[in-house]
Amino acid sequence: MLRDACRIGKPASGPVVRSGGRALTRVGGVPPGDATAALSEEDAGGDPYALFGAWFAAAGEVDDQPEAMGLATVGADGRPSLRMVLLKGWGTDGFTFFTNYQSRKGGELDAHPGAALLFFWPALMREVRIEGSVSRTSAAESDAYFATRPRGSQIGAHASAQSRPLGSRAELDRNVAEVADRFAGRSVPRPDHWGGYRLAPDRFEFWQGRTDRLHDRLVFTRTAQGGPVGGTWARTRLQP
Ligand SMILES: Cc1cc2nc3c(=O)[nH]c(=O)nc-3n(C[C@H](O)[C@H](O)[C@H](O)COP(=O)(O)O)c2cc1C
Repeated sequence: MLRDACRIGKPASGPVVRSGGRALTRVGGVPPGDATAALSEEDAGGDPYALFGAWFAAAGEVDDQPEAMGLATVGADGRPSLRMVLLKGWGTDGFTFFTNYQSRKGGELDAHPGAALLFFWPALMREVRIEGSVSRTSAAESDAYFATRPRGSQIGAHASAQSRPLGSRAELDRNVAEVADRFAGRSVPRPDHWGGYRLAPDRFEFWQGRTDRLHDRLVFTRTAQGGPVGGTWARTRLQP
């Protein structure tokens, strides 16, 4: 019997959860979504990229930032770490985001390319999990994307050694002013330490929230490389 276990979640009734004798105020909750929503094998089809595209487009209709995603990486000691990044492109070659190569995530990805992405679109009660292997985008691709960024963000990419300790906000402001002076009157080049990563999936999970927590979960695992849709995929339904 789990007498002393902390319970986090919705109690049978009332807004407060008791945990180890302390009262925890429940914050928010999962919206009920559409009770008729479902994910059938027929609707899902056999191509996870096509299904992702349909869901991403639907999320774009109702979500302010459907491209925001969790990125999980693994450190040298096997410890996971997780943060949000923005999806900047996707296709059958993978899912692309941009960052500082010398950041914590950059160091972890370079040493251990296995990573996972997570999208959650609450208005649709949909979650997509994508796992695979990450590699750097080409310098030309990183240059092309960097050139589209606002000048302030370009300067920031030079001025911030992302994930490293910083003595004060004033020190960052001085770095920004120094970089702005250095590139005054000319375009800001992409720093070598900044660029893209692309995650090539070998597993997708599509989760559709349903009533009574009897959700639909369909997993696609890649069984072979190549092919017209980035591989051959096996589809399996998981218990919710
Ligand atoms: C919605 C959202 C989007 C973000 N997008 C990015 C991004 O595309 N690239 C990035 O480097 N950091 C992005 N960040 C900041 C990261 O979450 C994180 O703070 C930063 O990348 C440092 O992570 P690290 O120390 O684990 O490397 C975003 C944060 C939020 C909340």
